[in-house]
Amino acid sequence: MKRHLRLLSLALAAIMLALSLTACAEKPQEDNGISKAVELYGTDYNYTSDELEEMQKAIFSFMPTAPSLYEAFADYFYVGGCINSGDLTGKGENFTSMMKQFNTFVLENEAKPEGMHPEEDRYYFDTVDRFAEFGEEYGVRLRGHTLLWHAQVPDWFFFKKGTSGEAASAEQVLKRIDEHVTTIVKRYKGKIHVWDVVNEVFNDDGTLRNSRWLQLVGDYDGDGDQYDYIEAAFKAAAKADPDVRLIINDYNLEWSFAKTQGVYDIVKSMLEDGIKVDGVGLQMHIGFDTNIETLRKNLEILAGLREYNPDFKIEVTEMDVSCFKWGDNSKRVELTESFMAQYNKTYVDAFKLFMEYAEMGILDSVTFWGINDDHTWLNSDGRINHPFLIGSSNRLKETYWQVISLAIE
Ligand code: GLA
Repeated sequence: MKRHLRLLSLALAAIMLALSLTACAEKPQEDNGISKAVELYGTDYNYTSDELEEMQKAIFSFMPTAPSLYEAFADYFYVGGCINSGDLTGKGENFTSMMKQFNTFVLENEAKPEGMHPEEDRYYFDTVDRFAEFGEEYGVRLRGHTLLWHAQVPDWFFFKKGTSGEAASAEQVLKRIDEHVTTIVKRYKGKIHVWDVVNEVFNDDGTLRNSRWLQLVGDYDGDGDQYDYIEAAFKAAAKADPDVRLIINDYNLEWSFAKTQGVYDIVKSMLEDGIKVDGVGLQMHIGFDTNIETLRKNLEILAGLREYNPDFKIEVTEMDVSCFKWGDNSKRVELTESFMAQYNKTYVDAFKLFMEYAEMGILDSVTFWGINDDHTWLNSDGRINHPFLIGSSNRLKETYWQVISLAIE
């Protein structure tokens, strides 16, 4: 109730400010969305309580009157968004919203191997350079995603130089990993603060993915384990920038015990061998029907890695909550009251859990795989999904209010 009253007075303040602005002959170029509120709700003060309720829901994330996710959760974790270099405009509603709501950012595609290192002798740094400059200018924390992955990686990494079919030797692949990781991590030393060193290297049953990296390098040093390419990447990254945080990132760690155990075992063994691993990234591409108690058990398993690295952290790296069940191929979902109640509860329960783990010093960031519902990989093939707290056109959804209420009065 207290929040409702506060929001109401904030909304009225915005309308009054808008009235004074419209009284001026010239409309300001950047009014942070106040004109949009006036356009939708007019400037008449005789609102019914239903309309006032509606107005509260319609506040946009870029408005000065809107709260800020990262400020609300500042005592717990960073809150982030995934962007593209095209989002670095310095102006507009999306930019205002993302800077107001988030304090950590990651590029959706442009820092992947195919984006940054398309040919063996040619790097492409322009977009990631711009991302790094943006981070410095605004003082935000940047995540680098990702140094090695089985997807979005050019073939040249795996072929003998100058051929397009002959497999490269293990030595050659290891040399390329070292050169690739060292060059990129060094270039962004002090500017990109955390790297997903490897992405999706496990199967859901906890075994290692049979990627070309694994096939070509395998157990190169003969010590009995097959993940020498992962060790090589982590070692090179730590050498290139001893202060950067190094993460092993994967999906389905929210529900698969076997996969989580697989990650635990390998990270433990790398830490015992003196290799720097700072944390595990949980992608957190989940559905509205996710069992948060199962997620809790998996966080517990990963938290055990603190025994081997006292500063070990879990990062939520790519969060979105789909409105569709796994395997449901329909294009639209009806956002009924009962559906939204379940949907909101999943988000709220997940955030409560993140806050608990943050209070224990184990979880330090929650990044969404987008900045609002207008752009999400979950909208492929004509589907319309609604996976974030911030909706289309940066509208603040009821889900947003429920989640942020966990951290503010
Ligand atoms: C994975 C990757 C991301 C992105 C998403 C889907 O989670 O880690 O980089 O490609 O898939 O868009």
